[in-house]
Amino acid sequence: MYYPEDLVEEIRQRNDIVDVISEHVKLKRSGNNHMGLCPFHNEKSPSFSVSGQKQMYHCFGCGVGGNVFTFVMEYENYSFVEALKYLAERAGIPLPEEEQNEEAKRKADLKTQLLEINRQAAKYFFYQLKSERGKIAYEYLTNRKLTDETIKMFGLGYSNKYSDDLYQYLKQMGYSDEILRQSGLVTFDEKKGAYDKFWNRVMYPIMDGNNRVIGFGGRVLGQGEPKYLNSPETLLFDKSRNLYGLNIAKTARKHNMLICEGYMDVIALHQAGFTNAVASLGTAFTGLQANLLKRYTDEVLLTYDSDGAGVKAALRAIPIMKEAGLRTKVINMRPYKDPDEFMKALGAEEFQKRIDEAQNSFYFEIEVLQKEYDLNDPEQKTKFFNEVAKKLLVFTEEIERNNYIEAIDRIYHMGFDNLRKLVNHYAATMVTTPTMIKKVQERSNNKRVTAQDSMRQASKLLLTWLIEDTRLFSKIKGIISEEDFDGELYQKVAGMLFQQYKEQGQVIPAKIINQFESKEEQNEVASLFSTTFQEEMSIMEKEKALNDLIYRIKKYSLDNRSRNVTDIAQMQSIIKAQADLQKLHISLADG
Ligand code: GTP
Ligand code: MN
Repeated sequence: MYYPEDLVEEIRQRNDIVDVISEHVKLKRSGNNHMGLCPFHNEKSPSFSVSGQKQMYHCFGCGVGGNVFTFVMEYENYSFVEALKYLAERAGIPLPEEEQNEEAKRKADLKTQLLEINRQAAKYFFYQLKSERGKIAYEYLTNRKLTDETIKMFGLGYSNKYSDDLYQYLKQMGYSDEILRQSGLVTFDEKKGAYDKFWNRVMYPIMDGNNRVIGFGGRVLGQGEPKYLNSPETLLFDKSRNLYGLNIAKTARKHNMLICEGYMDVIALHQAGFTNAVASLGTAFTGLQANLLKRYTDEVLLTYDSDGAGVKAALRAIPIMKEAGLRTKVINMRPYKDPDEFMKALGAEEFQKRIDEAQNSFYFEIEVLQKEYDLNDPEQKTKFFNEVAKKLLVFTEEIERNNYIEAIDRIYHMGFDNLRKLVNHYAATMVTTPTMIKKVQERSNNKRVTAQDSMRQASKLLLTWLIEDTRLFSKIKGIISEEDFDGELYQKVAGMLFQQYKEQGQVIPAKIINQFESKEEQNEVASLFSTTFQEEMSIMEKEKALNDLIYRIKKYSLDNRSRNVTDIAQMQSIIKAQADLQKLHISLADG
């Protein structure tokens, strides 16, 4: 970190967490906190809690949590420095000029450095495309009917035929072999030395939602294998949580988004004016991608390829979208294979018609299912009806389910009552839809509570209590010290709290979060400060609870220590402390 801690703290204080989160999540006041739907996992009822008093957030559902910095980092996929800059600007706090020493600055943030390498590489590829050497690639793209404007918009480029020119170019800019290896743009081979990953390909920079290049796709010119070569997974590039074209689509301001399979599909759609198109980059569509879409829209139109593979991919994606709370429709592009071909053959106006006629994904699923059965054969017809009835179980609301039963009946003439009876039969006997099974299993896995878990729980409770009621610091002075807390993390937090209290007479939990580097630790610390606390207890009940808690923590800590001690004098002091503990009484009455 190369910004002074005081400045970091000032930026944190000047960005009220409730305000910042409200810009992205709808929050409702509930007691001392604000509650909303967690932006980091799918849920229907709110378990995401934001505390204005503590300046922290925590999700009781998925366990994420932190302060205003970690929120911006997670939400925007920013590094710490990027989040800091964003919040500084938001609060109108000028940041000191960045240090003149290029090298030190680079080191400070590996992610920033990798982003810069990608940006330089994208510029280089773009320049190559426009140069004499890139002519074949440029012609390839114009043959595919891309305009200069589109090429520029997507930053398309060309990696030429030399095996290491990009490597040489970046090297000459001062980047080390090690960081170039981490960028995924250069491969190091014992025999061949360093060579460029992409060679004689049309280059598609892949950008995240904030227009930053996180990886590349490279297509062969014409025929060849593999048709597309993608950047490997890097610190920046995780295919499963990005969508190609999202950087533009998220600003399209349409009420839905189009999702297709390929780079060229996205580009063709955008060129035709459908700037709300994104692609899942050839990999199976993931829940993370569904969540990402859900941030910007409630309705997704699938325009996957109309071949067998595309239909299969669509069938897999539909439940994932539904799970994320997205309405899903399917666009029919037949007789054309993909949006790119469709656009070339029929144009934008016809495509708009297909959008308007897009089919509810449930009917699409049923239609695909129906193809497996010959409805003229009574036995197969019965089987089909049964399968349809099972599928209808996904609609848990009765009204919604009946509407679908009615609609399906209109198409396949099964008889509304027949179908409803069948559905109800399955609803009663099959208590076990896949999601339900998963839930039951999760619950039983979480049951086992070990002695250590319960000590962790106790440590956690005491930390929460200390934050809620700082008078406790003086009450436990000389009895409990940071080593008595169970687990390294809690000890560290306790140490920081004790120090804050000693130096400032108060505690600022949100400030502590920055001291932890990993997301796991930040989440854990945030959850510490978000444990809800029994407020209805009488003073006597509280006093008893506190004494029990202190006794358990101290006893466990002393017992632990006595097992590991070898020194006689130390052993004696532990025994004395154990004896003292039996007489311990902390009074909560003031004074
Ligand atoms: P063209 O129109 O032929 O340029 O490709 P497309 O964009 O229509 O892609 P296609 O439908 O053939 O494939 C869909 C997506 O899957 C592509 O955009 C790539 O992201 C990915 N893909 C296709 N072929 C390959 C391959 O050989 N390797 C990898 N890793 N991905 C591929
Ligand atoms: Mn294509």
